[in-house]
Amino acid sequence: MAEAQARQSDAVPRAALVPPSPPRAPPGMSTLGQLAAMRTSAIETWGQQAYEEDVIKGRFFGHGSLILNAPDAIRHVLVDNYENYTRTAAGIRVLRPMLGEGLLLAEGRAWKHQRRTLAPAFTPRAVGMLVPHMISAADEAIADLDRRRDRPVDLREAMQLMALEIAGRTMFSFGMQQHGRTLRDFVIDYGIRLGRPRLLDLLLPLWWPTPHDLSRAVFRKRWVRFVAMLIAERRAAGKNEGAPPRDLFDLTVAARDPETGAAFSDDQLGDQVATMILAGHETTATALFWALYLLALDPQTQERVATEARAVSGGGAPQLERLPFTRAVLDETLRLYPPAFLIARAAAGPDQVAGMTLARNDIVLIAPWLLHRHEKLWREPNAFLPERFLPGAPPPDRFAYLPFGVGPRVCIGAHFAVVEATLALARLIGTFRVELVDRAPVLPLGVVTTQPDRSPMFRISRR
Ligand code: HEM
Repeated sequence: MAEAQARQSDAVPRAALVPPSPPRAPPGMSTLGQLAAMRTSAIETWGQQAYEEDVIKGRFFGHGSLILNAPDAIRHVLVDNYENYTRTAAGIRVLRPMLGEGLLLAEGRAWKHQRRTLAPAFTPRAVGMLVPHMISAADEAIADLDRRRDRPVDLREAMQLMALEIAGRTMFSFGMQQHGRTLRDFVIDYGIRLGRPRLLDLLLPLWWPTPHDLSRAVFRKRWVRFVAMLIAERRAAGKNEGAPPRDLFDLTVAARDPETGAAFSDDQLGDQVATMILAGHETTATALFWALYLLALDPQTQERVATEARAVSGGGAPQLERLPFTRAVLDETLRLYPPAFLIARAAAGPDQVAGMTLARNDIVLIAPWLLHRHEKLWREPNAFLPERFLPGAPPPDRFAYLPFGVGPRVCIGAHFAVVEATLALARLIGTFRVELVDRAPVLPLGVVTTQPDRSPMFRISRR
C-alpha cells in the first residue's frame, strides 16, 4: 500500500500543504511525564518511535500495554477476536456519566441486543430520510454566518452549534434553539471539570469510586434530568402512531429486539438518546472545523471544492456521488485529524497479539492519530493530499485508515456523519470563501476528541 500511495502522490505537481503538528514526546518519557502530558493532550505522550514502529510495548501501573500500528494485529483485536476486548476502566469512568449504559459503553449480550435493535435506524435508507433535516439546519447556519460576515467569525463554535442543531432535528424533529445552549454548557462543563482521566481514575478499579467519580455522579443526576426533559418535550409534541418514522427518536422508540421483541425501557431510551447526540455532534463538528481550517490554509483546494459544490447546488439535496472531491477532502481531514484519536481496549482474557502475550486487563491502544500519520503506511504522511481518496486512487489498507473504527463495534453513525459533513462542507464552501484572520498555528489536543488548542477567527466572504 505504501507503494501505491507513493505512485499517487508522485503524480501531484504542486507542493502539498503540511499543516502544523503538535510536538512529539521526547524519547524515554517517564510514566509521571506521560501522566502530566496526558492531562493536556494524550497525543503529546507519543514520541517519534510511535510513528515508525509496528508495535510499542510498555507497562502502565502494573498492566502491560501495547500500541498497535500493524494492520494484521489491529484486525485480530478489532475483528477476529473482538469479544476478548472491552472498553477500558478509564474510558468507562470518563464517558459513563454522560452516556450511561447506551450503545457505546454496553458490552456482551446487552451490546448485541442494542446494536441489533438500533441498526435499522442507521441504514443508508434511514439516513436518507434524515437528509432534509441536515440540509435545513446547514442552510440556517449559513444564513446566520451571512448576517455576521462583515466581522471575524468563530467557525469552531459555528460548527458545534450547527452539528448540535442537526443532531437535535434528526433526533427529535425539533430545533435546538431553546435547549442547544444548555446542552453545550453541559458538554463544556463536563469536558473541563471531569472529562479528563486523573491519576486515581487510571489506578483504581472501576468499582472503587475516585474523588472525581463523586463529582461525576452529581453531574450525571442533572444530565439525566435534562435528557428526560428533552424526551418528555418530544413526546408531548405528539405520537406518530401508524405514520412512517420522522426522526431517530421514532426509530429508536419503535426499535424491538429481533429475538425477544422487547422495546427500550425509559432509562435505556434516555441513554441511547444521550449517546447518539453526544457521540454524533462533537465528532462531526470537530471534523468540519478541521476541514475548514485546512481549506483556509490551502486556497487552491478550497476553490476546487467550491467549483464542485456550485455545480451541484440548487434543486433539492445534492447526491453524495456528485461531490467526490468534497468527500475526498473530508476523508483526508479525517486522516490528518481523526476526531476519535484513540481506540482503547482492555483484554478480558489472555491472548497472543503480534507475537506477544497479553494477560487479562492488559491494555491495547489503537490510535487512528498514529496510524494515519505512520511513516510506513503513508507516503507524505503529514501532507494534506485529498487526491489520495479520489475515486480511482488506490484505496488505503482497510486496517490503516480507521476514522470510524472497524469490525463489529465500528461507528454505527459513520454513514450519517459522512453524509452530514460532506453536504455541510459543500454548502459552506459553495457559499463562502473562507480565510484565517490570524495565521498562528492551531494545534490539535487529544482530549476525548481531537480538539483544536484554540478557536482561530476566520474571515468569510460571499462567492
Ligand atoms: C465524524 C464523526 C464521527 C467519528 C469520527 C466517529 C468515530 C467513532 C469511532 C472511532 C467509533 C468506534 C470506537 C471503538 O471501536 O471503540 C465510534 C463508535 C460509535 N459512534 Fe461514532 N463517530 C462519528 C459520528 C457518529 C455519529 C453521527 C453517531 C450517531 C448519530 C455516532 C455514534 C456512535 C456510537 C453509538 C458508537 C458505538 C458503537 C458500538 O460500540 O457499537 N458516531 N464512532
